[in-house]
Amino acid sequence: MHNRIMITGAGSGLGREIALRWAREGWQLALADVNPAGLRETLEQVKAAGGSGFAQHCDVRDYSQLTAMAQACDEQFGGVDVIVNNAGVASGGFFAELSLEDWDWQISVNLMGVVKGCKAFLPLLERSKGRIINIASMAALMQGPGMSNYNVAKAGVLALSESLLVELRQLEVAVHVVCPSFFQTNLLDSFRGPDPAMKAQVGKLLESSPISAADIAECIFEQVAAGQFLILPHEAGRQAWAMKCQAPQQLYDEMAEMAMKMRAKARSG
Ligand SMILES: NC(=O)c1ccc[n+]([C@@H]2O[C@H](COP(=O)([O-])OP(=O)(O)OC[C@H]3O[C@@H](n4cnc5c(N)ncnc54)[C@H](O)[C@@H]3O)[C@@H](O)[C@H]2O)c1
Repeated sequence: MHNRIMITGAGSGLGREIALRWAREGWQLALADVNPAGLRETLEQVKAAGGSGFAQHCDVRDYSQLTAMAQACDEQFGGVDVIVNNAGVASGGFFAELSLEDWDWQISVNLMGVVKGCKAFLPLLERSKGRIINIASMAALMQGPGMSNYNVAKAGVLALSESLLVELRQLEVAVHVVCPSFFQTNLLDSFRGPDPAMKAQVGKLLESSPISAADIAECIFEQVAAGQFLILPHEAGRQAWAMKCQAPQQLYDEMAEMAMKMRAKARSG
């Protein structure tokens, strides 16, 4: 049996769309989130789309809640075949103004949440020869200004995924990492940072995406089936990454220019 999936952050945005994409294939789904209303809605939509399963409160910062989630998968499904470490929060602010508490919060959700998810589910995945899908961001590859804590957390998710890719091959556990550019979801609701003006700037970036969360879930579904490790759903993201690989200095210069413009805007407004 290979049709059991666990998704964190499944109560909204990309996590919900991933749930619906797999539900349409008739999978059993374990949905985890800290938002009970969002979880209820996703579970209803999952059932209407042809899936089945359960939803459970799970804060990815708390390892015991992730091991409880793994235990629930074992009890209700007899194991799990795919996990998606998707839960995440938004942050912004220049390094000089970000507090150490901003750093701790960002790293505890966006990086350690993924580390803990992988660790809690590894025994089940070893048994099923399953797969891990980690949701990072283009921020893992291209470190834009005014979001150093987010960049570091997501680069950590990419480094973890690369580490697991090579370590887990022998155990026949597959690994994928997804690096989308901005797209419209409720991510802004979780924004934390020292400068409220930056929240509005991030909001504009989310709105600017030519593709939706559902498009990204579709891309993930197809690329995972094709065995692709590094999944870059945005065309502009693929181009920017190719450019950075060829001419990194040019990219750093563009980012530095962008940082100066953001600073000027912050001072004027
Ligand atoms: N939206 C974008 O532009 C964008 C771009 C690149 C990467 N991502 C990543 O995609 C993932 C999904 O984000 P989204 O855009 O769908 O945002 P979203 O806010 O719509 O969904 C995130 C979900 O994660 C949940 N969550 C937050 N903290 C949690 C915790 N501690 N434990 C469990 N669940 C928690 C939230 O309740 C929410 O339901 C995140 O990892 C995000 O960093 C988003």
